[in-house]
Amino acid sequence: MDTQQIKQMFIQKFSESTVEPRVFHAPGRVNLIGEHIDYNGGYVLPAALEFGTTLVVREREDGILRFASSNLPEEAEIKVDEIGLNKTGEWTDYPVGVMVELAQRGYPISKGYDLFYHGEIPNGAGLSSSASIEVVTGYGLLSMGGYDRDTVQIALLSQAAENNFVGVNCGIMDQFAVANGKKDHAILLMCDTLEYEHVPFQTGSYKLVIGNTNKRRGLVDSKYNERREQCTTALEQLKTRKSDLNYLAELTPSQFEEFKSVLTDKTVQNRAQHVIEENARVLASVQALTANDLQEFGRLMNLSHDSLRDLYEVSCEELDIMVEEARKIPGTLGARMTGAGFGGCTVSLVHEDDVERFVKEVGDNYQARTGLQGEFYVCGVGEGVEELGTN
Ligand code: GLA
Repeated sequence: MDTQQIKQMFIQKFSESTVEPRVFHAPGRVNLIGEHIDYNGGYVLPAALEFGTTLVVREREDGILRFASSNLPEEAEIKVDEIGLNKTGEWTDYPVGVMVELAQRGYPISKGYDLFYHGEIPNGAGLSSSASIEVVTGYGLLSMGGYDRDTVQIALLSQAAENNFVGVNCGIMDQFAVANGKKDHAILLMCDTLEYEHVPFQTGSYKLVIGNTNKRRGLVDSKYNERREQCTTALEQLKTRKSDLNYLAELTPSQFEEFKSVLTDKTVQNRAQHVIEENARVLASVQALTANDLQEFGRLMNLSHDSLRDLYEVSCEELDIMVEEARKIPGTLGARMTGAGFGGCTVSLVHEDDVERFVKEVGDNYQARTGLQGEFYVCGVGEGVEELGTN
């Protein structure tokens, strides 16, 4: 859908006015490799998608904020002096949480706005639809207020909105990728320091295929928090061997071998092993991509999934089946789950000549084995958050 059509939907919802609305867009993200690393201070390699959330916003004179969406049924209306007083449990908590964080950072929302969100990311699929709503709101409102739009700060305040107001204890990766993506590039992000680099993601005749398991991500928040706690336990225990350790991902695989006996609980040891090896796989992936060695990158993707399944235990039957079926297609170089896990999406690197076969056969076999209908998106890497022109 183009910008004009989305603006038309805005006008239908909020009526015509002499004040021209402005339009902003933030993508979803896919993580290529580096899963459950961001809160362990290591490297991740996400990329922005070509689809995301478009926000149309127009100032109002009366200090009222109105929220509506083309794809989410709930609507809301609040006064600017009521921002943050009530949490609804609906999607509007994301933009409201961002407004709370903006105010705390010296950018209070003192005017009313009509805000219309057009989302193209399937919700709950692990492609960061919530981060894209947060980031487009932060970027849009700073723009409307005539402020600087520092995309690293916008990522941080969006994460804070999710942690503090929405109440989900996520890391920085999703908001960072959505805010700082670049067309045809992956983002190599060091999650401890937030130093980052855009790595060309040129896959030639290979395509990224995202597969949505359409499995509802039950218990994801509690399991996610449990993994975080296990990582904290591992860190505390490893500190008894290396007192200056700040994050698990600071250890190299060989250091881990040397110290791991201190982790007497096998589950905790497995969690730490995943983190340390996955972090090393991210750096190896960047080398492989830089050398145009897609076979090697595919191999690392496969190892990543297997580790998330066996050591970190955040996969599920549906993800494993889709990955298994994906790997049976001859043109698949690698396939893995992406995002937090427990449902959501897989990502595969597939030769363009085999994409059609991939979608058909993986889809059919997945459905036969799970009873669920998968969905597939063949997609390129898009831009991070931006303002769209008025044409
Ligand atoms: C979710 C979180 C991220 C990250 C991933 C796992 O997407 O929001 O911060 O931890 O899971 O890599």
